[in-house]
Amino acid sequence: MRTYLVTGGAGFIGSNYIHYMFKKYDNEIRIINVDVLTYAGNLENLKDVENRDNYTFVRADICDAEAINKIFAENDIDRVVHFAAESHVDRSIKNPDVFVKTNVLGTLVMLNAAKNAWEIGDNVYKEDKKFLHVSTDEVYGSLEEEGEYFYETTPYDPHSPYSASKASSDFLVKSYMDTYKFPANITNCSNNYGPYQFPEKLIPLIINNALQGKRLPVYGDGKNVRDWLYVEDHAKGIDMVQEKGRLFETYNIGGHNEKQNIEIIEIIIDTLQEMLPDGDPRKELVSRDLITYVADRKGHDRRYAIAPDKIKAEIGWVPDTCFAEGIKLTIAWFFEHEDWMKNVTSGDYQKYYQEMYK
Ligand code: NAD
Ligand code: DAU
Repeated sequence: MRTYLVTGGAGFIGSNYIHYMFKKYDNEIRIINVDVLTYAGNLENLKDVENRDNYTFVRADICDAEAINKIFAENDIDRVVHFAAESHVDRSIKNPDVFVKTNVLGTLVMLNAAKNAWEIGDNVYKEDKKFLHVSTDEVYGSLEEEGEYFYETTPYDPHSPYSASKASSDFLVKSYMDTYKFPANITNCSNNYGPYQFPEKLIPLIINNALQGKRLPVYGDGKNVRDWLYVEDHAKGIDMVQEKGRLFETYNIGGHNEKQNIEIIEIIIDTLQEMLPDGDPRKELVSRDLITYVADRKGHDRRYAIAPDKIKAEIGWVPDTCFAEGIKLTIAWFFEHEDWMKNVTSGDYQKYYQEMYK
């Protein structure tokens, strides 16, 4: 049985990945989820799997080399899927330090631990061991012209402390592959959306605010473009890259779904109107009048757009869920998980929101 060490599995994409993997492989795999549970980590996301015999949760910091080495010493890990990171650009602008610590130093700890556990000779590794580093399209910087895309060969040009820290971690992984022939892959994915996304990110924030009749903050002119992918398609891409991709390669993941932020907000408002039953008091609250233009994000990248040609041609990955369907699935999930939203928006979130949007 293959054993996976997943870092950051209590976060948005990590928890969706764990659900995806158990749905796909059921009892054929074992997953150890290592997460320190920052504000973004939530074990409620994993309630459905927590009692499985082939699932283990370990609360640990990826910067804690002793704790991470211990997990490798006690388990024969076959796959590492490394999600754990500080992930929110706005927070990185206010407090870059923790981004460097977790995203750069934490990745180094993970690389060293896996290398020490797997290396059996000089640059020779136990068979069939693989490390996948989950990264972002933000490392490529910003596109201006329509028709331009991020390819795997696009030079890195990060602008925010978040993307700079992710770029640094990518370079560390690349350096381990080049110097030590360390068996790894990197994936660079576009913006994800779907169940369990923390409402500091655009889509869940807008859904949550609109349902309460709160203002919908749009940064700048609202015309910045992001390339949206349903989170399950990202999980599928990660698994396919790890099993079918060529080692030492980078693969971009994205579904050619570019939209301006203002378009996204309007689609959410229209879809909420359509999905809320007549007589539901929230239907009266949801309105385009809530759209409020606010100060722009510092250093705000204008446009992201992934060219997924390589992953499609080499591996046969294609997304299954188009945006029109994915946004309905996401909204339906939030309707069914009102308590989840209440829990994650109580306490510290209120402080964050007041500070961020005052
Ligand atoms: P998230 O913020 O929802 O989750 C991050 C998880 O990592 C949380 O569970 C948190 O507790 C954990 N974590 C943070 N610091 C840790 C530490 N020091 N030790 C152990 N665990 C720690 O993030 P996400 O949106 O799920 O993103 C996951 C990964 O995917 C990140 O590496 C991110 O850069 C990358 N990514 C995200 C997107 C996106 O659209 N969200 C797109 C492409 C790539
Ligand atoms: O591209 C991949 C990246 O996507 C990931 O690497 C990051 O982890 C993830 O957070 C996401 O980064 P973005 O900055 O693109 O996502 P966010 O949801 O924060 O913002 C999306 C766009 O919406 C961006 O142009 C800023 C804008 N925005 C965001 C918020 C929270 C607003 O206009 N208003 C808001 O309140």
